[in-house]
Amino acid sequence: CVRKPFDNEAMVDFTVPESRQAFPAAIAMVRSRLGRTYPLWIDGKDVETPDTIATRNPARQDEVIGHVCQAGVEEVEAAIAAARTQQKAWARLPASQRADCLRKAAGICRERIVELSAWQVLEVGKQWDQAYADVAEAIDFLDYYANEAERLAAPRTEASLPGESNRLAYRPKGLVAVIAPWNFPFAISVGMCAAALVTGNAVLYKPSSLSSVVGYGLKEVFQAAGIPGGVFNYLPGRSSVMGDHLVGHKDIHGIAFTGSMEVGLHIIKTAAVPAPGQAHVKRVIAEMGGKNAIVIDDDAELDEAVAGTLYSAFGFQGQKCSACSRVIVLDGVCDRFVPRLVAAARSVKIGPAEDSSNVMGPVIDPKQQRNVNQYVELAHTEGNVLLMHTAPQPLWAEGCYVPLTIVEGITPQHRLAQEEIFGPVLSVMRAKDFDQAMDWANSTQFALTAGLYSRSPARIERFKQEMEAGNLYINRGTTGALVHRQPFGGFKLSGVGSKAGGPDYLLQFVDPVNTTENT
Ligand code: SER
Repeated sequence: CVRKPFDNEAMVDFTVPESRQAFPAAIAMVRSRLGRTYPLWIDGKDVETPDTIATRNPARQDEVIGHVCQAGVEEVEAAIAAARTQQKAWARLPASQRADCLRKAAGICRERIVELSAWQVLEVGKQWDQAYADVAEAIDFLDYYANEAERLAAPRTEASLPGESNRLAYRPKGLVAVIAPWNFPFAISVGMCAAALVTGNAVLYKPSSLSSVVGYGLKEVFQAAGIPGGVFNYLPGRSSVMGDHLVGHKDIHGIAFTGSMEVGLHIIKTAAVPAPGQAHVKRVIAEMGGKNAIVIDDDAELDEAVAGTLYSAFGFQGQKCSACSRVIVLDGVCDRFVPRLVAAARSVKIGPAEDSSNVMGPVIDPKQQRNVNQYVELAHTEGNVLLMHTAPQPLWAEGCYVPLTIVEGITPQHRLAQEEIFGPVLSVMRAKDFDQAMDWANSTQFALTAGLYSRSPARIERFKQEMEAGNLYINRGTTGALVHRQPFGGFKLSGVGSKAGGPDYLLQFVDPVNTTENT
């Protein structure tokens, strides 16, 4: 593998006939492989368990994607024992060798990109372009962290003097548990695992139980890329059975988590208590929720603002932690912006992601469907519902559909303005002026993404200075951060840790050691 300056993977172009035709073919091929049983992968061996969980197509609940074996405490212990043994040799390899494994993995993902996307279309209901973007982001993480690991490993000579040599080096922490979400089931999983692996750690990878077949793709890719068994372990399992055991284990050094605030805070608390025999503090990286706002200034370019808000709020059914769930519109432009937004939203075609003419699909599972529907009911109580746009009736019986909902009359004291919904429910908040818009935008416990549509340099500057969010977007939507260009992550109750896809990320997986030698 050759080290190249980092460049983001190109997006798919569906005006090219081959790209357009490749998707239905890949979906048909994936469909012919549904219903298989997926073993755990521990110490380089398949491990079957009597306990399995079936994952299902959100658009067709009777379609089983796969039956996934579930690790219990015994399997966690076996994986940790293997990881402890195998990690030592992995850590001794030169960083460039581990980096080359990542580059090889990136090449394998590139070859399989449409197929890996097709699994997401069926298992989590991602639209074609977004599924492709997810795998492209995974490729970016692999290539970017490969380069970053080599950068960290390069000797730093500038601090040395004649007669005194100083060397700051980074040692792997040891064993890292990666607890991944279903909404970016490949990209975020690959990102967290790759960062841990390339810095010399062994990984215990627990995919979401809703997307474990996509997660199995990581096992295939890393295995084919030459990552030794035991260094990467595929360990799906029920959180109630093995989650705390994994997080609380004395031999785990780091936990990389992406998911809800409730689970993230629980992990932080559990990991903070040293287990008997544990002689280190665990490092927790937790990417949690958001309640992201877009502010529409009274001089905003409305065509762009409507399109950007629509995509940010309803892309992948609003199930991105970066999604916009509050649009804060200045009074002077509200009566022009909101009807246009509602009209555009009404034109969104809703149906299964495998049909590329559908822009929005079902949410991930029946539990989330019930949850979102409760917020839709709440919208009728707390505000004035402007739009409830639904999928055609016959689809409702088959999949986890919820209405695309826009509600106005929401102010910060409403639950709709504070609680993360993770679905296509957008609150419109009419602010009397820019001061109030900024106050409201900052009025939640979260600080993940935020957007502003404005042509006023002074207000743009104020937004840059005062908006509490890890990723600020001016005159564009709030989703779709790219590795290297928009390192991603928040603060407040949106998470702890440095940004994924940014220059500080790998430092969280290592212990720095400085050596001074008088020569
Ligand atoms: N990185 C994703 C985005 O920016 C969210 O996880 O949309």
